[in-house]
Amino acid sequence: MSVTTTFLSGPSIRARLGAGEIHLWHLQSSRPGSRGAVAAVLARYLGIAAADVRFTRDARGKPELDVRCGAAPRFSISRAGQVGLLAVAEETQVGVDIEPLGRIPARWAVVREALTERERSVLPTDESSAADAFLRSWVRKEALLKAAGVGLSVEPRLVELRGIEIVAVPSELGTTESWALVDLTLPRHVAAVATENPRAVLRLHGEWPTSVRPRVGA
Ligand SMILES: CC(C)(COP(=O)(O)OP(=O)(O)OC[C@H]1O[C@@H](n2cnc3c(N)ncnc32)[C@H](O)[C@@H]1OP(=O)(O)O)[C@@H](O)C(=O)NCCC(=O)NCCS
Repeated sequence: MSVTTTFLSGPSIRARLGAGEIHLWHLQSSRPGSRGAVAAVLARYLGIAAADVRFTRDARGKPELDVRCGAAPRFSISRAGQVGLLAVAEETQVGVDIEPLGRIPARWAVVREALTERERSVLPTDESSAADAFLRSWVRKEALLKAAGVGLSVEPRLVELRGIEIVAVPSELGTTESWALVDLTLPRHVAAVATENPRAVLRLHGEWPTSVRPRVGA
């Protein structure tokens, strides 16, 4: 997956997805990730008022646009504190996840549950670096599980990663070649985007204040 930045200006400009594009938005709102903030962005793709954007959820909780909204893009939401991210794609499943850095997992048992044996074996030895490495791995896995629409109904340790390379996935996610990941690093946060299309182009859209502006890579 390659990444470019094209910042749209003006809240009313119609947003259009080019072939193979994924657009990543920073949700600017006092409640980032709220339905209103998400609807305001998706309305720009649909050419309708934000108030007319209707959401549904599939059986596993993945939010979707109501078919009454017409041809609807796919999207994924993640929020961490005041930062909300929205990934939008047309013909490919997409997932995004963000977590704040600098937290030591409350229970390292979580780490054992989420990582494979090989992934645990390459964690740094000092606790703070290990926590950051764990969170980096966690957002990649969660982005992938969200793109597949399964969320945490599938155990993250059934996905094995080496960096952003996908080494193993459970059968319900298809094959390792079915997916691609890209890392994003935001100030004090880590994030990842997953998609079905390895040739997808990720574009950063909207306004990204320096406090949240991401760079690509770990
Ligand atoms: C969604 C999930 C993967 C992670 O959420 P999180 O890290 O706490 O929070 P994030 O902000 O990153 O993501 C939340 C968003 O993910 C999306 N989401 C929820 N279920 C999803 C699914 N199955 N597939 C894709 N996206 C999903 C929703 O948009 C949700 O925000 P919303 O409720 O406002 O619509 C997790 O909460 C989950 O799987 N929930 C489904 C219920 C479930 O299986 N629970 C088992 C727990 S062991």
